[in-house]
Amino acid sequence: MPAEVSTLTTALRFFQANSAIQRSSANLAPTVLPFPPVSPKKRIAIIPGDGIGKEVIPEAVKVITASGADVELSQFDWGADRYLVDGVTVPPDGFAMLERDFDAILLGAFGDPRVASNIHAKEILLGMRFKMDLYANVRPVRLMDAALCPLKGIEPKHIDFVVIRENTEGVYTDAGGVFKQGTPDEIAVQEDINTRKGVERIIRYAFEYAERHPKLDGSPRKRVLMCDKSNAMTHAGGLWQRVFKEVSAEYPQIKPEHMYVDALCMQMVRDPRQFDLVVTNNMFGDIITDLAAGLQGGLGMAASGNIHPGRTSMFEPVHGSAPTIAGKNVANPFGAILTAAMMLGYLGMAEQANRIEAAVLEAVQQKRTTQDVGGALGTREAGDWVAEKVTRA
Ligand code: NAD
Ligand code: IPM
Ligand code: MN
Repeated sequence: MPAEVSTLTTALRFFQANSAIQRSSANLAPTVLPFPPVSPKKRIAIIPGDGIGKEVIPEAVKVITASGADVELSQFDWGADRYLVDGVTVPPDGFAMLERDFDAILLGAFGDPRVASNIHAKEILLGMRFKMDLYANVRPVRLMDAALCPLKGIEPKHIDFVVIRENTEGVYTDAGGVFKQGTPDEIAVQEDINTRKGVERIIRYAFEYAERHPKLDGSPRKRVLMCDKSNAMTHAGGLWQRVFKEVSAEYPQIKPEHMYVDALCMQMVRDPRQFDLVVTNNMFGDIITDLAAGLQGGLGMAASGNIHPGRTSMFEPVHGSAPTIAGKNVANPFGAILTAAMMLGYLGMAEQANRIEAAVLEAVQQKRTTQDVGGALGTREAGDWVAEKVTRA
C-alpha cells in the first residue's frame, strides 16, 4: 500500500503540475500518458538531532546503505548545536522543503541540557508533526526475545500489538496561558483540544490499519481498543466515545473495545497478551508507548512512524536524546535501525525492511547487542554487526 500511495502521489503531483498537458492531450488519440518515468530512488532527509540521536542515526544510515535500498540520503543539522550557534531551529520554509523534496524523513531525537527552554525540540519535532500534519503516530510493540521482557512467562508470540497515537491535537497544542505569574494567585491553564475531524481521522486510521496490517504470524488484527479517560475528562472523552461508536460501526468484522487509560496501564503490565491495536489521544499515547517499550526491552528497542497517508512522513525511534548516556557509545541503535526498516517498508522496500528486521532479531537472539538488552557491544559495534548481516543476507 505505501509504495502505491507514494508512487501515486508522485504521479498526481506531476499530473497537477502539468494540467495543461493533461487538457491538451485529452483530445488526441492515441496519447502518451503524461507521466514521467517514475524513479525508484526514494529521497530521504536525515536529521539526527541531539544527544544519542547523533549516535544511533548514523548506525541506521549504515544499515540502510548496507541493505542496498535504492535511496538518496541528505543530512540536515537541525538541533541544539545549530541553534546555539545561529539561533535557527527550523530554517525558513524548512517544512515546505521537506514536503517538496523528500519522500520520507528519518529523525533522531531532540533535547539538550544547554537549551533549558527546549524551544528547538518544540519547533523541530512538534513543529514537524503539527505543520506537516503527520496525524498518525504509529508505534508497533513487538517482543523479539523472551529475555527482553521483564514479565515472566511472556514470549515473542504473546506481544505483537500497535499503538496508534493522535499526533496533532490534545494537550500538545500548548493552548492556554499563565496569569498572575509569580503571585499567590497564579493560574496556569493547559487546554486539551479535540476536534471532530481530528478524532475521526485517527480512529478511522486505526481501523484501516487493523484491516491492512496482520500480525507477524499472519493472523489478522481483529480488535481495536480505544483508550481514554472519559470518566473524568467528560467533554473530550464524550467526543472520542461518540466518534468511536460511529466509526466502529463501519467495520463490523473488527471488535471495538474500550479501556480507561489507568486500567490499560495495569493490564499492559499484568497481561500484555490481550492487546491487538490501541488507539488513543496524543498524551496518553506518549505515556503508554514508553510503558509498552518496557515490555520490548526498553526504549532502545522501540520504533515509530509519524504518518500522513500520501504525504512525506517522518520516522523516529520512540526514545529521546538520553543526555546522560550520550557520546559514550553505549546507546542501543536498534530502535533507530528498526525505525529505518519501518520507513523502508512504508516506502515500498519490503524486502530490505524484512532483511533488516531479521538481522536485528538475530542480533538480539545471539546477544550481539548493547548492554541495555543484555549484550556487551557498543553502539557502533552493534550497528556494524547488523549492517554486516544485512549485507551478507
Ligand atoms: P529518554 O528516552 O531520552 O531516556 C529515558 C531513559 O531511557 C534513560 O535512562 C535513557 O538512558 C534510556 N534510553 C533511551 N534511549 C536509549 C537507548 N537508545 N539505549 C539505551 N538506553 C536508552 O527520555 P528522557 O530522559 O525523559 O528525556 C531526555 C531528553 O530527550 C529530554 O530533553 C526529552 O524532552 C527528550 N526527548 C525527545 C524525544 C524525541 O525527540 N523524540 C523523545 C523523548 C524524549
Ligand atoms: C515522544 C516524545 C515527545 C512527545 C516529546 C519530546 C515532546 O516524548 O516522541 O514520545 O511527548 O511526543
Ligand atoms: Mn515520549
